[in-house]
Amino acid sequence: MFLRSRLTLAATAAGLVTVLLGSTASAVPAPGAPGIGDPYYPTAGNGGYDVSHYNIRLTYNPATDLLSGSTTILARTTQELSSFNLDFLLPVKSVRVNNFVAKADAANGEVVVTPPAPLASGRDITVVVQYEGKPSTVKDATGFTAWKRGPDGAALAIDEPNIAPWWFPSNNHPTDKATFDVSVAVPQGVEVLSNGTFAGTTPQINGWVRWNWRSARPQAPYLTYIVIGQFEVRQSTAPNGQPVINAYGDDLGANAESARASVERTPEVIEFLSSVFGDYPFEAQGGVVSTGVGFALENQTRPVYSTAFFRRGANTSVVSHELAHQWFGDSVSVNTWRNIWLNEGFATYASYMWAESQGEGTAAEIAQYYYDSYPADHPIWQVTVADPGSGNEFDSAVYDRGAMTLQALRNAVGDSAFLQILRTWTAQKRYSTGKIEEFIALSERISGKPLYDLFNTWLFTKGKPAGLGNPAALS
Ligand code: ARG
Ligand code: ZN
Repeated sequence: MFLRSRLTLAATAAGLVTVLLGSTASAVPAPGAPGIGDPYYPTAGNGGYDVSHYNIRLTYNPATDLLSGSTTILARTTQELSSFNLDFLLPVKSVRVNNFVAKADAANGEVVVTPPAPLASGRDITVVVQYEGKPSTVKDATGFTAWKRGPDGAALAIDEPNIAPWWFPSNNHPTDKATFDVSVAVPQGVEVLSNGTFAGTTPQINGWVRWNWRSARPQAPYLTYIVIGQFEVRQSTAPNGQPVINAYGDDLGANAESARASVERTPEVIEFLSSVFGDYPFEAQGGVVSTGVGFALENQTRPVYSTAFFRRGANTSVVSHELAHQWFGDSVSVNTWRNIWLNEGFATYASYMWAESQGEGTAAEIAQYYYDSYPADHPIWQVTVADPGSGNEFDSAVYDRGAMTLQALRNAVGDSAFLQILRTWTAQKRYSTGKIEEFIALSERISGKPLYDLFNTWLFTKGKPAGLGNPAALS
């Protein structure tokens, strides 16, 4: 009784404080910012709310490229809002906020949603967006279309740093992760792949079939994908008990076997990477190989690979790169896109470690090989890895010079501190985001060594560094 009344008093006091602060801090409801504050992409993401879940429920006709349906967003406001933005490029039919019809004004990849009354701060909101469009006909402000179509009506929503606006409305930035249910109805005989675990198919009244996928760990919008087309889907169980789903395009031709000989080893590669970086952060495993894409991307739980990676035979290097991104990029994401070295430098170095485990030279030897193979006047040395510039995130400098940087760090601090730094980073930042400066601070703290000069030379300064350092110099 006594305890109960004390709790009531405390709750009342806290309530008063909230009300007072709320009324003074934001007396006038304001529009949410059209961007989340990324210097490379000022309109990526939005201000004023935080998404916890997306339910994407669509119908896709491969013959016409017509995509229709709805996305239901569960979010919480972080300020008093007169309106807020969604990042989206397809034509919107309607928007409701907490069941009330809202005004939706779309322009330049931003949808300004104005509910009939302002939203209080700290409030749970449910936003339902109905839409229909042909993603392949939609261009962003730069004239680019990220949605891809392949032969036989194949369609792929895969790209980095931007793909979501072509198929679902979102707060499109890695600093706002959420769980996802993705469901797409397609004609009989068409396969739909996405992230996470497979929740089965449901027959549709028109004879079509709905594919249901669920990703239950925090996931960035750009890592959420769908691949639609003709695939062989293989289901199995990994040694750690997790479900494995791989899919291979029916049209891989001469690369069909080399693709399988690479991607079927996904659980083995994850087991190796887990032994180095700590527990695998996600609940499912797999890979998708397609002719409809010219690159590989580390889509959460189930990367997508261009068939081109397998044209010279098996290639587990690319598999180890994309799977290492599950730790570096997907679980620990970039806080802003300037920090892309934390993704690409680390995944590239991880592929050297995988190669070492396969008896193909030590990681140190591979890093040295790359260092030697780029002459001092090569353009790679003119890119500032810690700030490559927007549109330049995937320059080979970020990958190769980025991986050399980690070898230089390893040489400077020794194997044991190096591995401890990587494992602490993935543990501390799990399901979150990081900045290069935070990684440098962690490296200095764990190693007990001043590392400013090393990182300044390798990441922040143009020109070929004098060398990778000498591990033998360690005491
Ligand atoms: N993160 C991808 C990788 O594994 C690179 C994606 C490149 N993006 C693109 N649109 N080409 O390296
Ligand atoms: Zn990569």
